[in-house]
Amino acid sequence: MNNDTVATPSPADLRERLVEDLISDGVIATDSIAEAFRAVPRHVFAPDASLEEAYARDIVVVKRNEYGTPISTVSAPEIQAGQLEQAQITPGMRVLEIGSGGYNAALIAELVGAQGHVTTVDIDPDVTDRARSFLNEAGYDRVNVLLADAEGGVPEHAPYDRIIVTVGAWDIPPAWTEQLAKDGRLVVPLRMRGVTRSLALEREGDHLVSRSAHVCGFVKMQGAGAHDERLWLLRGEQVGLRFDDGTLQEPSLLDGVLSTEPAAAWSGVLVGRTEPFATLPLWLATTLPGFCGLAVDTSQGQPGLAVEEGGRWFPYAMVDGDSFAYLSTRPAEPGTVEFGAHAYGPRAREVAAVLAEQVRRWDRDHRSGPEPDITVWPISAPLDHLPEGAVISKKHRHITISWPSP
Ligand SMILES: C[S@@+](CC[C@H](N)C(=O)[O-])C[C@H]1O[C@@H](n2cnc3c(N)ncnc32)[C@H](O)[C@@H]1O
Repeated sequence: MNNDTVATPSPADLRERLVEDLISDGVIATDSIAEAFRAVPRHVFAPDASLEEAYARDIVVVKRNEYGTPISTVSAPEIQAGQLEQAQITPGMRVLEIGSGGYNAALIAELVGAQGHVTTVDIDPDVTDRARSFLNEAGYDRVNVLLADAEGGVPEHAPYDRIIVTVGAWDIPPAWTEQLAKDGRLVVPLRMRGVTRSLALEREGDHLVSRSAHVCGFVKMQGAGAHDERLWLLRGEQVGLRFDDGTLQEPSLLDGVLSTEPAAAWSGVLVGRTEPFATLPLWLATTLPGFCGLAVDTSQGQPGLAVEEGGRWFPYAMVDGDSFAYLSTRPAEPGTVEFGAHAYGPRAREVAAVLAEQVRRWDRDHRSGPEPDITVWPISAPLDHLPEGAVISKKHRHITISWPSP
């Protein structure tokens, strides 16, 4: 075959292909968002990536920290499109983007048009320098690029009709709501017990109500709003338990727990091998006492955590005193796996059974949706004022997560 006859796709071809894919997968539903994706040359904002990488449905890493963890990226197109759908931006709006890169700010500039106003803020001068230069190169000189810790928002251009946060937040600082217009919308990827949703929040009286919640992943917030999880390493092992909200009450009770005989409990709940089950982690996070993440360092090989042959473990766990359990699967009928739990500790059987029972309840009542109602309250709101459901209390806000009655 003569390779000379294979034409290399142009950036415009790659862009069109990306837009068509996002439309056909239902990620882009709004014409103006499709037009913005067609108009903005994504590759200009990712000059170190190949054209294919720039237009792939993936992140482009811009900067890593000393451990190799990404701290700045051009977000994946579906995450950006999803947040823009959540934001419902119309021409003439004033928008603040938190976390820069330039590309998403250019998409927003397309959506607000010449009469609108876009400010993007980032804590990292390398990122703001790059964003400024790429925005100028692509013809978006009118976007304001600012260097600041967004914990305080950007008061000089407030109020904003929309604030779009493009970095993973653990809390919602007061400045963001203070700088949001009365009928404004705040789109923010919020971590709740380690599970992140991009929420589209609007005011309702003295609190915020989420109109939609999208599954997503973002690099973590730095600066004053940074929040480190508490990681409890199980002694002498490569396994840890991570708490994003709350912590272990008596960590010494787990000493030596991984040397005990593991137990398993199976739920009878089957899931297709490629079927999404996004509501399950949030269900477990809001119903299991002692919910936490399971962290495993595989750099020195697999740690030998109990798991059935052909099955796997997931990073969702619970601790109850001297025992802990984690979500796992085992092969079931062709093309499916069964959810269950493995556990260690003196009460391994009991704790595994508690986790498996919550999987059964999720399957029975919530598997096919809808997602829970999520509201955000000032931390000064009395607890008996909050809706029924799980309450996660942060520094500035209470977050409530209420599952619909079956
Ligand atoms: C995923 S990137 C932003 C992606 C970008 N919006 C785009 O166009 O694809 C997240 C950015 O948030 C920034 N960031 C982290 N903490 C911040 C903070 N406290 N204030 C402002 N920016 C912050 C990081 O430096 C990083 O560049």
